[in-house]
Amino acid sequence: MEANIIHLATVTSTQDVARAMTARSVGTVIIADAQEKGRGRWGHVWLSPRGGLYMSIIMRSDPLLSLRAGIAVAHALQRLGIDARLKWPNDVLVKGKKIAGILIEASGGTAIVGIGVNIESVPLAGSTCIAAEAGRIIARDDLVLSIVQEMDTSYLEDILKTYRKLCATIGKDVAITMGNEKVSGLVVDVDEGGHLLLKTAEELRIISSGECAHLDVHSSADTGKQDRLR
Ligand code: BTN
Repeated sequence: MEANIIHLATVTSTQDVARAMTARSVGTVIIADAQEKGRGRWGHVWLSPRGGLYMSIIMRSDPLLSLRAGIAVAHALQRLGIDARLKWPNDVLVKGKKIAGILIEASGGTAIVGIGVNIESVPLAGSTCIAAEAGRIIARDDLVLSIVQEMDTSYLEDILKTYRKLCATIGKDVAITMGNEKVSGLVVDVDEGGHLLLKTAEELRIISSGECAHLDVHSSADTGKQDRLR
């Protein structure tokens, strides 16, 4: 992707800036130093003080974009020596703590991929940041280039295979909130459409969208859950 990178100071949300441009701007990346109304998935606020990365990439829609974006950010953080993993679909975690989030807003064949990464500080208790995990401050713009490059590379990869390796949700007991419905169970896999395969007490469910919470803190390898997946 030929990236046209636009740096701004403070904006409401880089998603809003990108949305005003989409008709002509596939490949454009908007970066802001801070956001006054940063937004997350499911109507959450994304606190956006200076010292973090706030970027939106304008792209063509693609059914696996959500997984690809997660892979790109996780790989960019791994390049810094950080053991980044994914909580379905694309929250980026380090040892169970959130370090980055992704919001995709799509319409008419165009998708705005919004990415927020905690670099210098932790705006929300219980999260983590690059400074804490890598023990150093990194250059925000190098991280942007690394993420954009990884988004390109992901077209060449076996997305599902790569995603499964990074996904900390597979093998976990989870609770999924879908509007007023809440369903719990064991995640047995993610399918080729990026859906979660959830084994509840009653049935195997295919979940295409929902807010996912991990119910245990140990990895599947630690808890022997892998056995229950077979
Ligand atoms: C989430 O984990 O809920 C997604 C967070 C996405 C935050 C980014 S920061 C850049 C872009 N602008 C926004 O307002 N949100 C996204």
